[in-house]
Amino acid sequence: MLMKIAKDRVRKGMFIESVACPSQEFPRRRFVLKTDRDITAILASSATEVQINLSLGVDLDGRKPAALPAPPKSATGDRARKLAVRGTVLQQAKVLRSSLCDIVSGRSLDMSELSRAADDNGELWSDSTAIALEVTRLKSKDVTTYVHSLAVSGLMTLLARSLQMDDEEVRILGVAGMMHDIGKLLIPNEILNKPGNLTDRERVVIRSHPEAGYQLLKTHPEIPQVVLDICRLHHEVLDGSGYPLGLKQKDLTLPVQLSAVCDVFEALTSVRPYKRAWTTAQALDWMFARPHHFDRKMVIRLGSVLSDE
Ligand SMILES: [Fe+2]
Repeated sequence: MLMKIAKDRVRKGMFIESVACPSQEFPRRRFVLKTDRDITAILASSATEVQINLSLGVDLDGRKPAALPAPPKSATGDRARKLAVRGTVLQQAKVLRSSLCDIVSGRSLDMSELSRAADDNGELWSDSTAIALEVTRLKSKDVTTYVHSLAVSGLMTLLARSLQMDDEEVRILGVAGMMHDIGKLLIPNEILNKPGNLTDRERVVIRSHPEAGYQLLKTHPEIPQVVLDICRLHHEVLDGSGYPLGLKQKDLTLPVQLSAVCDVFEALTSVRPYKRAWTTAQALDWMFARPHHFDRKMVIRLGSVLSDE
């Protein structure tokens, strides 16, 4: 059931159908209101009214919608949902490709656009974690880096939220996930997508991507420090055997450790030219068995976020 309410009565958990103002002013439509930032944006808009959907979100008093009978599970319904998520991911990958290529070619960078893209990606992962995980495991070569980056961004958003980080921090980590591998755009494709073993020289080239990305992003003063750190340090591990700097746990901040856990988990559970995808449980077990590389509490937390589905 739809209901129009004054904009100052919106609260978290409501399902927003529309905000009555020009779409340039508030472009988002049909979403669950989850963040202080969206509430602030609605209040700051010229709208006086907002339309909410009482079947899909809380009412004015914060009551949840009455449980609707679960639709019968049908293979066609599941397949349709998967196709819809796949379409959204591929579309987001295209947008991310164009943003990252813009940065690489020295064009200006729109942080608010990236931030909005991270929000949308975070929504998708919150609403369809299992499907998003399944969809992003299958990547074609031309979009591998972008889909991987979206998946890492989605996982980082879920994990950061579960660690009670505030909305702004979660959003910045979502952006960091999208940009962490930008240095790979500077690596020749024949090395990046090479099936089979890499030579020592090729391994050195691949391993240059965190520093190369960091040097590139550093030229944009509007990029937050944590995004730079994650770009440079997402391949560091706790015992100092990572790269490029070989830092140890005491020098690795929580956001950097969080990015490393999500990055490795995503890589292990993906199909790559040289390996089959691992299951979620296999990847978590493998990481849990390496406490010298990854913080066990964080691995457990990631597992709990993924099992919430
Ligand atoms: Fe990387």
